[in-house]
This record gives sequence, C-alpha cells and structure tokens, in this order.
Amino acid sequence: MKTPLKTIPESLLQILAYASLSPSGHNTQPWKVKILSSDELIIQSDPARWLHETDPANRVTFLSLSAFFETFSQASSSIGFETQFELLANTAKDIDVFHIKLLPSTSLPRYNLGIIKSRGTIRSNYSTRPLEPLHIDLITKLSPDSIIYFPRRSEKGKWIAENLLEAIRQQIFDDKKQTELSYWLRFSRKEAEERGDGLTAETLEIGGFEKFFWHTFFSRKTALSNFFRNRAVNMANEQLNNCSGFVVISSHNNSLPSLFQTGRLYQRFGLKVTELGIAHHAMSQLMEENPWSTQLQHQIKLPAIVQFVIRVGYSTVTHGPSIRRPLSSFVET
Ligand SMILES: Cc1cc2nc3c(=O)[nH]c(=O)nc-3n(C[C@H](O)[C@H](O)[C@H](O)COP(=O)(O)O)c2cc1C
Repeated sequence: MKTPLKTIPESLLQILAYASLSPSGHNTQPWKVKILSSDELIIQSDPARWLHETDPANRVTFLSLSAFFETFSQASSSIGFETQFELLANTAKDIDVFHIKLLPSTSLPRYNLGIIKSRGTIRSNYSTRPLEPLHIDLITKLSPDSIIYFPRRSEKGKWIAENLLEAIRQQIFDDKKQTELSYWLRFSRKEAEERGDGLTAETLEIGGFEKFFWHTFFSRKTALSNFFRNRAVNMANEQLNNCSGFVVISSHNNSLPSLFQTGRLYQRFGLKVTELGIAHHAMSQLMEENPWSTQLQHQIKLPAIVQFVIRVGYSTVTHGPSIRRPLSSFVET
C-alpha cells in the first residue's frame, strides 16, 4: 500500500495534525499541503472545497486558511521550529497561498497545545449572563483596534441579533445557498466517517429525538423543504436570544494581507476564549447577505471592515473540534 506520509518527519506531521484542528466555514477544511522537503512546504487552497454561492469572493475560505496558518505557526513554535513564511497568493482565489520554511530554534514562545485540542465551536446551552469585565478586557487586549464586544442587551447588540436573524432567514431560503449547504450537511454517519468533513448532528449539537430525526428522515433533498428551513431559522432565533453578546472582529481593509491577519486573529481569539471557559460561535450571514453586508460597518459605527460576528457566552457545553479529515487526504509529497 502507498504510504506517502512515511517520508515526512514526525515533528512536521505533528504540526500539521494540530493545524488541521483549525476552524473553517461549513467545516470544508479548504487546505491542501504540498511537502517540498523535510522543512519546506506550500499551503494551498483546494477549489473543490470553495463555497461558490455563500462565499463567491472566497473571503471565508481565505480566513479559514489564515486560521490554519496561525495554528500551524503556534504548533511549530511550541515544537521548536520558527515558521518563516511568504504569502504567495495575490487574490483569495489563488491556489498557492503560503510558502513555509521551518527553522529549528530553542528560543521560541511555547503555546498551550492542549487548548488547540479543546477549542471547538459551541452552539447550545448558552446562558444570558453578561461577560465578566475581566474577560472582556482579556479578549479585546488580543487586538484592541480590531476586536469589539457588544453585550446582547446593548442597543448595538440588539441590532446585531435582530438583523442577523433576518440575514440567516434570507440565506436559508435562498435555494442556491441552501443547496450548497446541503452538500456539507452530513445526514449519514457513514458519509461523515468516510469524508471527515462537513456538519454532522454532533457538530450542530442536535441531540435526543431531533438527532434521531436528522439521521432517519432528513436528507439533502429534505434540507430544501420549508419544514427543515423553518426549523433551522427557529434554532438560530433560540441561539441569538441566548448568549452574552457578540464579538466583532474587523480588518483595516479588504486587502489579502489584512484578511490574513484577521483570520489568524480569529484563531487566537478562539483559543483565548476556550482558555477562559467562554463559548464562541461565528455567524457569518451579516457579511454575506445584502443589504446587511453593506450596512454593517455603518450601523455598528466601526471605522474598519467587519469580517467576523461571533456569538459568545458561558455555556454548559464544552467540546473540542468537530470531525476532521486524516492528514493523508490533504498532505501530498
Ligand atoms: C471564516 C469562518 C466562518 C464561519 N461561519 C460560521 C457561520 O456562519 N455559522 C456557523 O454556525 N459556524 C461558522 N463557522 C464555524 C465553523 O462551522 C466551524 O469552525 C467548523 O464547523 C469546524 O468546527 P469546529 O470549529 O468546532 O472545529 C465559521 C468558521 C470560520 C473559520
């Protein structure tokens, strides 16, 4: 049997395994890795995993690849390698995205790698308790220019919740976008196991009787029914009414280097809130749906461009990343 990974150093495989735990829109895991030598590689964008309908400019895909880079770099540093890199891409649709060279070093920051394994998007059982001031401080300190917290009960928090629900409803009732989403919904356990990507009942935290329904009666076709779509809108309504508030992460502009910094920051944010025992749930529809995508920055009075709206709060649920593909499916020598 062909085992292409066997020629790759164990340390690099370990770093890649950590990086693969990074978040991505619809859990598409849009990365591919081309190993050039034992210490040199290229991170590529996989067009088969692009979301043409919801993400025509590849904004979400590029942010996800940038989050992957951040995790890669934290894992390398902790394992003893400096990540020297070059941003190869000029547009979010370029295939070759980062060129990376690893240099052994003994004086690098060490991160808590356990947190990478415990970070996961949490969707249920949030309390409405406001975030503690110390926690808000620690979160915004990650990048005071780019991270703002809006309590759910504040005027802007209410605006976000109400408009996000409308944007979600619009996206769910858009046939092309809902059809695209349906390809990433894993109604069959077998398909989820074979593919190792997409959104499972466990990822969406659908339990009990609902989970039985999900596996028994739902399919790609029923995902387009009014019953399924209304159910999803109701679930979003419940989520938006139950949280502490919203964290907004913005970028200076829409250039690729600026998006790169923002994607990295999203992963640093996810790791920080995990450490603090705060749940997070990115909700992208305000940036994806019109007219909100053009109004958002003005409505919440930000000088910069909103790239993430993230529901946050204290939840009784904790879990690590959802399903992932094995290294052999995205690493090639
Ligand atoms: C750029 C980006 C956008 C995302 N947008 C959404 C979203 O709109 N709704 C949602 O439920 N999750 C969203 N997510 C979270 C992903 O669904 C999640 O990261 C993925 O399913 C993997 O699960 P994990 O974070 O638990 O590992 C987004 C993640 C990223 C990186």
